[in-house]
Amino acid sequence: MLNKIETAFTKDFGLEYPIICAPMFLVSNTKMVIATSEAGGLGTFPALNFRPIENYRKAIRDIRAQTKKPIGVNIIVQSSNKFANEHLDIAIEEGVDLIITSLGSPREVIKKTRGTKTRVYSDVVGLEHAKKVADMGGDGLIAVGSGAGGHAGDISLFALIPYLKKHIDLPIIAAGSIVNGATLLAALSLGAAGVHMGTRFIASQEALVNEAYKKAIVDAGPEQIVNTDRVDGFPGNFILTPLLEKLGVHSGVVETVLNQNSKFKRYLSLYRAGRALFGSPESKASYKNIFSAGHGVGLIDEVLSISQIVEQTVREYHELKARLP
Ligand SMILES: Cc1cc2nc3c(=O)[nH]c(=O)nc-3n(C[C@H](O)[C@H](O)[C@H](O)COP(=O)(O)O)c2cc1C
Repeated sequence: MLNKIETAFTKDFGLEYPIICAPMFLVSNTKMVIATSEAGGLGTFPALNFRPIENYRKAIRDIRAQTKKPIGVNIIVQSSNKFANEHLDIAIEEGVDLIITSLGSPREVIKKTRGTKTRVYSDVVGLEHAKKVADMGGDGLIAVGSGAGGHAGDISLFALIPYLKKHIDLPIIAAGSIVNGATLLAALSLGAAGVHMGTRFIASQEALVNEAYKKAIVDAGPEQIVNTDRVDGFPGNFILTPLLEKLGVHSGVVETVLNQNSKFKRYLSLYRAGRALFGSPESKASYKNIFSAGHGVGLIDEVLSISQIVEQTVREYHELKARLP
């Protein structure tokens, strides 16, 4: 057994390692959550991955039956998610340890979880939102930097983590391109209390995505990651595959001009978000055939089991820390 890595975050949840297997739409599954939590980290999944809603409650119960360790769910708190309230009520009823909110205000989630065992950490990409979360009484921040898989922020984690830490007294979890011991060590050195790893866990045996996705992650370097809003209307990082190339990663002239009209822009965003979230696999671009990943892809060379990923990351962290000049 490797030595523990103790931070404010691990102490809060009783974890061995400050590693979250980040929630990933259409990727996270119960096996990934169980394997991460059993390996000493904290497994999470987006509530929206399980529909209809009874399957979401069942997923939590299935996980609970196989691990007693802390687990988390992600709730999209944007108004377009009409299931958010139900997702929240079920998470509280089932005693989920951590709720990660994204894409909106966590106010309701924080209010309803007060006095329960459930803690709330919220995705932020800058100081303004982070301050609001702190004022609302949130328990922690997930700082999403540039280079993250999914909807990345614009600020490098090298600047974002110490900047948030300077202004806000909450545990900060670093999200973006953290894939191994070196990047974990860097994140903790910057002041993070933990890491939120997504892309690394897609290339795992437990992820049930198609093999082409895993292979694309193993083969790609950071040069192949493009940031585009063409997939779901929000800027996100994707591997430049031939399909994405065909779809085009930049807005055309007509679209750029129409985008200046706020109504059209909103319509287009909603249309793309709907297509990505609920579109059929045949629709041109959805998370099923376009692969989202972060800049850390260049450091991922093989598909491993989740326990191997956690162990390798922690081992490398300890070795590098001992060797620092
Ligand atoms: C395929 C994919 C789907 C994602 N879906 C979600 C999601 O549903 N909710 C969310 O809060 N974050 C989502 N994210 C972001 C991750 O939770 C995490 O912050 C990010 O992957 C960290 O960056 P990394 O991939 O470079 O490790 C997604 C990321 C990826 C790669």
